[in-house]
Amino acid sequence: MISDATESLPPVVLPSLERTPVLTGQKALVTGASSGIGRQVAIALGHAGADVVVNYVTDPDKADETVQEIERRCGVRAMAIQADVSNEGQVQAMFRAMMDAFGTIDILVNNAGLQKDAPFDELTLDQWNKVIDVNLTGQFLCAREAVREFKRKGVVADVSCAAGKIICMSSVHDIIPWAGHVNYAASKGGVMLMMKSVAQEVAKWRIRVNAISPGAIRTPINMDAWSTPEAYAELMKLVPYKRIGEPDDIGRAAVWLASDYSDYINGICLYVDGGMTLYPGFETGG
Ligand code: BGC
Repeated sequence: MISDATESLPPVVLPSLERTPVLTGQKALVTGASSGIGRQVAIALGHAGADVVVNYVTDPDKADETVQEIERRCGVRAMAIQADVSNEGQVQAMFRAMMDAFGTIDILVNNAGLQKDAPFDELTLDQWNKVIDVNLTGQFLCAREAVREFKRKGVVADVSCAAGKIICMSSVHDIIPWAGHVNYAASKGGVMLMMKSVAQEVAKWRIRVNAISPGAIRTPINMDAWSTPEAYAELMKLVPYKRIGEPDDIGRAAVWLASDYSDYINGICLYVDGGMTLYPGFETGG
């Protein structure tokens, strides 16, 4: 059994990002960066040399912690900006504040997202709207502001090959249906085709638009799925690689997608999921 074999494997120690300054001098905005995947992506971009705006909506103290960690450990500039990504006025004010502080934007990580789960016949319109507003409309509003600035600025050759890069945080549930989470799966399916359509439209200005589709990553959003040994064992049935993902797994993927090392990559969903999208039920069935 493959799962028996994994018990004898050593723990995973991810290589440090601390000496990979592939984003030096670039200006990045990460939405929803006060916790979870967003926080770790913001720190990873900082390690790679970017100055970082840490967007948050409800928790200024946690956003400040992220800012301080980036400034202390990465030696770059960081600042927190509050904005609800589903509010057009607040998004535009956030971009103006970033332009005033950093002058421009080179990298947008459209990360802010949430779940409001319910059985389908109990799903309220408010739960539906909230998830679509934040997860999908929020990514549209931020991407539109970023594209406006990327087109205005154009390519600055000693900064990056591209005029700008957008990374949309999607999910394995942009392709795996998810009972009990219909609003969330619909939002992420929407993110995937929005991302590809924008990528097709803006590529000629050397703007790259890609997505990262995380699987099960150890964050507060899915704590029920990993915080007890029983839940973790159930979760592992869905993960051929037999470990949960860490926020840093997403951080390093984001650094690569934002850097010129991926310059010819445009319009892809990069599944960072330990094989969750490989139909693990077929390992023994079918
Ligand atoms: C969800 C998590 C879930 C994971 C894998 C993510 O997009 O936010 O709650 O554990 O997909 O199912």
